[in-house]
Amino acid sequence: MSVRSTARALGWTSFIAAALIAAPASGQVRDSASDVAAPSPAADPLAPTGRWSVYGGGHAPLPPMGWNSWNAFTSDIDEEKLMASARIIVESGLAAKGYRYINIDDGWWLQRRASDGRMLIRTDNFPSAVTADGNGSFRPLTDRLHAMGLKAGIYSDIGRNSCGQVFTSTFPNQPEGSVAEREVGLYGHVDQDIALYFKEWGFDLIKVDACGIRGLPPSDPRVKAGQYRALGPLIDVESLGRTNIPAVKALYDEVRQALERHNPDNDFVYSLCLWGSADSRAWSKTMGNMSRTSEDIFPTWGRMLHNLDSVAHRPLYAHPGSWNDPDMLFVGTGEFDVADPVKARSHMALWAMVNAPLIIGYDLRKASPALMDILGNAQIIALNQDSAGNQAVLAFDSQEVQIFVKTLDDGDKAVAIFNRTAAPAKALLTADHLKLASESPIDLTDLWQGGQRRFTGEQTFELAPYETLIFRAGGSRRLTEGLYLSEQPARVNPAVDGVMVPEADPQVHRGLLPWRGTKGGGERTQYGGWGGARLDQTPFGQALSVAGKHYDSGLGILANSRVEVRNEGFRRFVAEVGIDDSARARQHPVTFLVYGDGKLLAQSRAARPGEAAQSLDVAIEGVRLIELVARTERGVLFPDPVTWGNAALLR
Ligand code: GLA
Repeated sequence: MSVRSTARALGWTSFIAAALIAAPASGQVRDSASDVAAPSPAADPLAPTGRWSVYGGGHAPLPPMGWNSWNAFTSDIDEEKLMASARIIVESGLAAKGYRYINIDDGWWLQRRASDGRMLIRTDNFPSAVTADGNGSFRPLTDRLHAMGLKAGIYSDIGRNSCGQVFTSTFPNQPEGSVAEREVGLYGHVDQDIALYFKEWGFDLIKVDACGIRGLPPSDPRVKAGQYRALGPLIDVESLGRTNIPAVKALYDEVRQALERHNPDNDFVYSLCLWGSADSRAWSKTMGNMSRTSEDIFPTWGRMLHNLDSVAHRPLYAHPGSWNDPDMLFVGTGEFDVADPVKARSHMALWAMVNAPLIIGYDLRKASPALMDILGNAQIIALNQDSAGNQAVLAFDSQEVQIFVKTLDDGDKAVAIFNRTAAPAKALLTADHLKLASESPIDLTDLWQGGQRRFTGEQTFELAPYETLIFRAGGSRRLTEGLYLSEQPARVNPAVDGVMVPEADPQVHRGLLPWRGTKGGGERTQYGGWGGARLDQTPFGQALSVAGKHYDSGLGILANSRVEVRNEGFRRFVAEVGIDDSARARQHPVTFLVYGDGKLLAQSRAARPGEAAQSLDVAIEGVRLIELVARTERGVLFPDPVTWGNAALLR
């Protein structure tokens, strides 16, 4: 890796040292009542609301696509570099394929003007931003991008200071001036900055980073030396217990409100970048259009696995309007250089399958035709941009081979068979993985090679090292009269997932950090996510089973949960419900309730651990929002997992 990573390394090392002695913050036990827009903490978080609570503001019905300067240039950016990639995106046809947002990342700012707090642009690098009155404006730039049919994105930080200042201060184009002039982040200036960026300058997207509330504790040597003001820290990425979750959430919500105020046409994208910290999985889906799930991607295989794993088990936390963001594409660089197209294709295919925002991070002036072919594969893009908005669900999971299945709007499936390892692998794909009938033929179209093949029941595939085979699959559906919930995660939202004590997810690949090597004790698990709602698995990744009966389809969630399900034209909801056999506490009975538009439609008997599942068959014709509640004793800190086996909407 480059000198830049080394510089970054130094920043991170001092951050970690600082974080270890930072003052603790409150908030390790989630106040679930406040997570469901309840009027008071005493309100019952499991009470039906009749309301789909996924964020409805902004404009991201599909995962946003575009280009961002960071992976290509870090903060060494200027107008020429940006516009060159923008032009190529249009001329190459990538724009017509959906890549629209041209996003400026860190490095655009000069300072915050002392007299009135107005943000000033580094006009030496962005000459079109020079104005006669000295105010500076990005309007000419955004006008040009808009005239090209593109959208424009800008970058800021939720704290007073930027990621560059905190972690990569040796990179070019850091803010200049006094302590106050170098405070370029949104903190204390939310309304002023958002009005400037959106109303005056005409941007369409903002990425809001969080380094300013993470890396400047009072003990930081730079703070002590008077270079920066201390803030928090509110986030400790290595400790949920030392993170002030409500405070972080409130800051990001303040930005949401300003965005809505200054964008009456709703044409904005709010991109949260707090790397999966602060239990953001639980709340970013109520206020942002995309939300990072991990720390930065690097162009190494291990890091790509790390970022992929941070989203792979959470398809229920991504919906039209609010997407999981495993970070930008690094296709074209490092291990994803197209000289080794296998890895580059895997990265692209997997990002498409998990509905990641497809944001190119490459200096397109240098792009080869082979790279443009990968980024521009229309069939793969179509999977990512499929209007149903279902993130792929893991149909088979191991540390070697994974099978991701995504249900498409037309009922077809997309399937990616992924070899995570450096050795060849064999994979058996079954009709059950696809939830297609095992006695009827299944047609596969290879989305890289274009070939067709047909099989019935099951088919073995040989995978080269690091290879992802990706197909569109059509056949007869296993469930002929409807859809399993696991075939429609876009319509299923665990508004309250029963997680009372957010825990770090141990299933994320802990790759070597390129800038740290094997110094220290290794990467620890850190992002909250363990115990969340899952499809076709328990919250802890076990097979679903109730009293010994196994379900390969269903919803696995903790008790004391409330799941919203959008109903578009189905007439029955069915499920077999019970406490999952993986339960450990096994003390409290659980009652399962089904609501339709806020009214109770059905209720199970109190289920006890080890008891056979009870069948629910509920009429839902005309109901718009179904709510699935699993209720156990209130206040239980570690509720048992429950299973909604074979949960499905039927015609
Ligand atoms: C953070 C973000 C990156 C990038 C840099 C800019 O690390 O996670 O995506 O924006 O800051 O400094």
